[in-house]
Amino acid sequence: MKIQRSIVVSIVLVMQLLLEANSLAVFDITKYGAKPGGPDISVALMKAWKDAMASTVASQVLIPRGDWTLSQADMSGPNKAPINLEVKGNLKAYPDLAAAKSSAWIRISKVDSLTISGGGVLDGQGQETWKRNDCGTKKACVKPPINLFLKSITNSIIHDITTKDSKFFHANCVESRNVTFQRFTVSAPGDSKNTDGLHMARSNSITVIDSVIGTGDDCISMGDGLSNIIVKNITCGPGHGISIGSLGKYTYETDVKGIRVEGCTLSSTTNGIRIKTFPSSPIAITVSDIHFVGITMVNVSRPIIFDQEYCPGKPCPVAKPSQIKISDVEIEGITGTSATSEVVTFVCSKDKPCDNIRIGAIDLKYIGKKPKPVTTRCQNIKPIFTATQNPPICSAPRPSTT
Ligand SMILES: *[C@@H]1O[C@H](CO)[C@@H](O)[C@H](O)[C@H]1NC(C)=O
Ligand SMILES: *[C@@H]1O[C@H](CO)[C@@H](O)[C@H](O)[C@H]1NC(C)=O
Ligand SMILES: *[C@@H]1O[C@H](CO)[C@@H](O)[C@H](O)[C@H]1NC(C)=O
Repeated sequence: MKIQRSIVVSIVLVMQLLLEANSLAVFDITKYGAKPGGPDISVALMKAWKDAMASTVASQVLIPRGDWTLSQADMSGPNKAPINLEVKGNLKAYPDLAAAKSSAWIRISKVDSLTISGGGVLDGQGQETWKRNDCGTKKACVKPPINLFLKSITNSIIHDITTKDSKFFHANCVESRNVTFQRFTVSAPGDSKNTDGLHMARSNSITVIDSVIGTGDDCISMGDGLSNIIVKNITCGPGHGISIGSLGKYTYETDVKGIRVEGCTLSSTTNGIRIKTFPSSPIAITVSDIHFVGITMVNVSRPIIFDQEYCPGKPCPVAKPSQIKISDVEIEGITGTSATSEVVTFVCSKDKPCDNIRIGAIDLKYIGKKPKPVTTRCQNIKPIFTATQNPPICSAPRPSTT
């Protein structure tokens, strides 16, 4: 009898422990006064976030189905247990830029084990702002807010979330480590200004997979201080392609090392795979261990481009060539169609020529309206050819087939 009782007690104890381990503290914004279709939910959201940060068991901040107006949110850690921001509804920013008081619409920082999910939409309502944005040409411009700004995030995953019509970049991920973006959808028209899909910088181990990105600027832009980056199975277009850079503008920039872009499709984008660095860079950093593998181009302008004379704003600093060294790059299995006749462009720096650029199979066809001879451009580069390219690149001698 006694033994049986202690067994029962043990079972109850184990069950309690299991329950605690699996329990999820849910902080639903409607319990904090938020109403769908109602006024700004920022106060309710911040209260729910604060309670979630204090939770010692895994927690969820829940934004249920429905339309919600959010002026802005600055959600900071540290958290005590894993946290899930579950966005099931449509979050809408105010269309008016004057209502934006911060450089980010939704900012999340200093959080570990964060999951953002739920299938919802972050709608920046940027239409009015794009018309007035002059940040492409003017240096002293007020940058509109980024839809989702992630800073100092570790061991986290962002999946099944859409960012739509951001006023500026859709998502930034900086000073972070071990972050995965999966089924991360970006949607904005091709003519929306400065709306990079996902920009990352000063981070380690970032993975972007299985995502569809259509926007008015780079689908993915990879800034300085990155290492161990994987970009895989991305569909990009409209947009400006998948870019490393721009680099070489600021003195604080550090090396970029270890980027793999694989199994992506780009459609009617203004660039395909690109590395861009400014001339007259104030620092000398390196870009190395870069892999572009298995990329399909569909009507892409400039499918492959290294541009070390990148300078969108005028006037351009021309005092000296770029001081950014590009080396150890693999380009393999790039196929499809080009909207421009210059299908491959390598404009490398005169001071820092591109080094150990290994080029495998490439097959690109020009499909522009005007019939033109297909060309490639090679400046300060001596590629190593490991397979056959169509068209031949830099008038390369083909590898012997016998
Ligand atoms: C990276 O983050 C994921 C998701 O939180 C986690 O499961 C994994 O253990 C982390 N990896 C490392 C090496 O810390
Ligand atoms: C690639 O991503 C798309 C879009 O998310 C997804 O539907 C598809 O299953 C993914 N492919 C693979 C091989 O995982
Ligand atoms: C190809 O791209 C060009 C230039 O971006 C665009 O004008 C044209 O409509 C595209 N054609 C197709 C068939 O998508």
